[in-house]
Amino acid sequence: MPPSPMDLRNAVLGPLLAQNAVQKAELTLGLQADLPLNCQAVIADPGGIPGRPLQPVLVSHTSLKAKPLNTPEGRALLLHAIAHIELNAIDLALDVVWRFDSMPEDFYRDWLRIAKEEAKHFLLIQKHLVSMGFDYGCFPAHNSLWDMAERTKGDLLARIGLVPRTMEARGLDASPGVKNKLISAGDLAAGRIMDIILEEEIGHVAAGNRWYRHVCKERGLDPIATYRELIQQYDAPKLKSPYNLEARRMAGFDDEELQYLAANGL
Ligand SMILES: [Fe+2]
Ligand SMILES: [Fe+2]
Repeated sequence: MPPSPMDLRNAVLGPLLAQNAVQKAELTLGLQADLPLNCQAVIADPGGIPGRPLQPVLVSHTSLKAKPLNTPEGRALLLHAIAHIELNAIDLALDVVWRFDSMPEDFYRDWLRIAKEEAKHFLLIQKHLVSMGFDYGCFPAHNSLWDMAERTKGDLLARIGLVPRTMEARGLDASPGVKNKLISAGDLAAGRIMDIILEEEIGHVAAGNRWYRHVCKERGLDPIATYRELIQQYDAPKLKSPYNLEARRMAGFDDEELQYLAANGL
């Protein structure tokens, strides 16, 4: 079936394929939330996903070194890394919408809302970087998030088990420390941006938890045992304590899951 601009699941391919980062974010914000939805359509991969700018250069994450945050460059490096995560997060949310068919309408609407919030996060940080004399693309970045997207493109359960409820949930754990570092370095504006991001990221992880359980139930799988299998099968990055238990509870992790994470060093 040829792509129809009137269908939401085809429309997300526009921003997903866009190469310019700011344009990608703006196109995402411009997607009409009330477009008709064809939940059952199987959409062919158009190739070139995701569209990405030539800068930043992608390198291995171990070669990225932090600099002291009391210098503008050190702060810009940290903010650049967060902007890069947000750009990936736009692509990850849009990718779920076109790639995985036969889910309920609410599922696609949830991921469209998430993509728009990620676009907002990206632009908040990108504009802050510009105000500091830097921009997105100034520094190298790594590709760990999209690597996980590639590895999990064949199975929705793996995608939502390992991206929103693992990698984005790690973001909840890291957020208070990052905010404190930025505020200690005197960047109160960046601290406020981190507050906005954390609040909305809780909603993204909550959506991940909700739909992960939905798919587990559909397939007759135990959510906790399945999660352990997914972590091993896809070689997901290990979680590290301390966990942001308050944010994780707000995002719908229950006590059994949190105890499991703590007991297994996941
Ligand atoms: Fe985000
Ligand atoms: Fe997110």
